[in-house]
Amino acid sequence: MKIMVVGGGGREHAIIKALKKSPKAEVIYALPGNGGIANDAVCVDIKATDIEAITDFAVKNKIDFAVVAPDDPLVLGAVDALEERGVKCFGPDKKAAIIEGSKVFSKNLMKKYSIPTAAFETFDSEESALVYLETCPLPTVVKADGLALGKGVIIASTRQEARDAVKTIMRDKKFGASGDRIVIEEFLTGPEVSVLAFTDSKTVVPMVSSMDHKRALDGDRGLNTGGMGTVAPNPFYTADAAERCMKEIFLPTLDAMNAEGRPFKGCLYFGLMITPSGPKVIEYNCRFGDPETQVVLPLLMSDLLEIMLAVREERLSEIRVEFSDQHACCVVVASKGYPEKYDKGFEITIPESVRDHVYVAGAALKEDKLVSSGGRVLGVTRTAPTLKDAITSAYSDASAIAFENAYMRKDIGKRALEAKEQN
Ligand code: AMP
Ligand code: GLY
Repeated sequence: MKIMVVGGGGREHAIIKALKKSPKAEVIYALPGNGGIANDAVCVDIKATDIEAITDFAVKNKIDFAVVAPDDPLVLGAVDALEERGVKCFGPDKKAAIIEGSKVFSKNLMKKYSIPTAAFETFDSEESALVYLETCPLPTVVKADGLALGKGVIIASTRQEARDAVKTIMRDKKFGASGDRIVIEEFLTGPEVSVLAFTDSKTVVPMVSSMDHKRALDGDRGLNTGGMGTVAPNPFYTADAAERCMKEIFLPTLDAMNAEGRPFKGCLYFGLMITPSGPKVIEYNCRFGDPETQVVLPLLMSDLLEIMLAVREERLSEIRVEFSDQHACCVVVASKGYPEKYDKGFEITIPESVRDHVYVAGAALKEDKLVSSGGRVLGVTRTAPTLKDAITSAYSDASAIAFENAYMRKDIGKRALEAKEQN
């Protein structure tokens, strides 16, 4: 089969490496891919959000199957456009992708169908939001309605911080039209768990759970980033939590989307918090997470392409989806200064022995040399029978990759390891 993967980060590299293992995969194109993905796929210089160009490329090149990985093309309707022209896709259509595209939509969905989440109010004017902030409990959480590169969430400990957050989002329009409406919600506490799930709208198959490390610095300090590393499985996701999530969150979400006439087919990402009163939804994403995918897919033992085809054809219940019982750790190597200001263009040397475990996110080819081109440059994932060994190997590989200005957190997996040792 001729396959096309839309996107160009570490997540897409992990998806492509997994798809390549399928006997059915003949050629894989990446749109746009990146300098590292070029080792595993044919990169085509088309932006992931240029839906017209993506569709034209797919039709012209007789693509048999397309995987749309990032949130923005999904929310913009890339799957609808491709399917309309006869290209089979993995990913939700525009109607279903709204579960990530609008927080006002997803919060109202959860309220209507009694899916556990933080209590909330929604606002479409700054004035009414400011009135609410005079008396709401603190800390409080202010969220822009639309996509904001994971940065549209502000946790405010004081009323002034909360007012400033509302002004930044609604008046200064820091996230553009994504801030026309906001959600203000209850501050929850507890460990966070990411669960990605395959669903064809009839069946839901959760993948192995994982733990992201969103802050830039060790000890969960510093600014929020796209994710500095992940481990899987997540020790806070106990068998009891998994059972409750299936009953109280996963199946009710599928039913809710079906009842709304928005059946979801693809990878549904549940961002969960295990609170003292049980698991609650922090957010939904309509796609694979990054860098969760870089630990989840290396543990997948079944054929990813077969699973994706089954999702598209609504026969997920008929196939086996198996994960290894090993552990995985992904350490992200970033440019020093990320997520703020950083220099790029430094040559990257990846030793041959490490190459199989590397997922490239922000690197380009310049005169046949790989150079850093983004904040998160690459991730290194290792799997092992124990979490401790997976962490040690991932760090050993990450340290072997040399480039000037490289930065990584030193404590990926530390909290997970401590939690395991306490049990
Ligand atoms: P989101 O983009 O919705 O996943 O939010 C980003 C991060 O903000 C989450 O991973 C949580 O760490 C934090 N967060 C979001 N909502 C809440 C909440 N209601 N209570 C506590 N922390 C939250
Ligand atoms: N790692 C969080 C996300 O993909 O949104």
